[in-house]
Amino acid sequence: PYPFYERIRARGPVSRSAAGVWASADYDVVRQVLRSRAMSSAPPEGQQGADLSFLEMDPPDHTRLRRFALPSFSPRNLSSMDARITAALNRLLDDLPTDEPFDLVSRVGAPMPITVISDLLGVPDADADAFARYGSTFGSALGGVRSLAHARRLVEARTALGRIFEQLFELKRREPGDDLITRAAEAGPEVIRPDEMAPLLTLLLIAGFETTVNLIGNAVLALLEHPEQWELLVADPDRAGAVVEETLRYDSPVQRTGRRVVEPVTIGGHDFVADDFVVVCVAGANRDPSVYPEPARFDITRTDPQEHLAFSGGIHYCVGAPLARLEATIALRTLAQRFPHLRRAGALTRRPGSLIRGLQSFPVTVAPV
Ligand code: HEM
Repeated sequence: PYPFYERIRARGPVSRSAAGVWASADYDVVRQVLRSRAMSSAPPEGQQGADLSFLEMDPPDHTRLRRFALPSFSPRNLSSMDARITAALNRLLDDLPTDEPFDLVSRVGAPMPITVISDLLGVPDADADAFARYGSTFGSALGGVRSLAHARRLVEARTALGRIFEQLFELKRREPGDDLITRAAEAGPEVIRPDEMAPLLTLLLIAGFETTVNLIGNAVLALLEHPEQWELLVADPDRAGAVVEETLRYDSPVQRTGRRVVEPVTIGGHDFVADDFVVVCVAGANRDPSVYPEPARFDITRTDPQEHLAFSGGIHYCVGAPLARLEATIALRTLAQRFPHLRRAGALTRRPGSLIRGLQSFPVTVAPV
């Protein structure tokens, strides 16, 4: 995708694509679009489905639901999860074969975020498998609906998830826990309307399942493709946080988003009018050479002052960013500590679709050379 963003940028800060929409891969323009009050994430009037999540809402509804979600991602709540996340990861790593290749995605990258988000939401272990299965089916729609059969599976998954949520609400009313579903079950309609409940939980579920796995996979891939960077991490596992930030910039798991113009606004010298649609290439902005010298170089020692835009910006800035950072940092630190000989062991496959960038399978081995 990266040469494609370069071509977009070569056409100017804002340009019109063949599909008749506007696009930008320019850092300053992308940042301004994301922060603009003249732009909206909501579908146009009349095209809004029944199950909108707050990702696709404007204030004040967006503000109200986002405010409900935020405490689960507070530093206090995350620090209480830190030890449990590390323990869950170590259990996964304990089970890995030490003498033959295994798939890093299905053995580590995918199960870790699933365990963590189930913990944060408060899904009991007994339901975790069904929850994970329907959640993954749902998440697979991020790359686009592929066939009629796929569409049918999505409808089934939605119904099944709705049922699981209902049962969980009943359970949490009887046995409250320190988790998000308990808070949701206790929240009155002035906080969450009944019809907002399933979309809210589904958003958190999908965002939890389908993004961090790609951050972990993309990070390990970049490190193993740049062995000197892997050695830097092995020598000092506390560099894991820097690896996470550089991976978010260099190979962003969410490549783009979009905004609809709701009132005239000029950004990047371009006059947008109402109902224009802008494709916001955050992964392209993260490789803007005017902000990141030699943007195509993966370098965990970068000291660029500007934060990347991998978590978006403005009012929709990723709610889960602190959790994604925590999980990926723990994963990379622990992998480097426990498996300094980690290396590739065969051909990888990529996820379909261009919205989410990540690996579907990634054979590696930890056997000593
Ligand atoms: C929003 C990226 C992990 C929950 C977003 C957006 C991006 C993003 C780009 C904003 C889209 C837009 O502006 O249109 C990522 C990446 C992740 C990640 C790259 C991991 C590497 C997570 C996790 C969760 C989460 C783990 C929670 C479990 C959300 C939610 C929103 C959001 C709820 C909507 C925020 C709002 O509309 O106010 N994320 N995300 N994300 N993310 Fe994440």
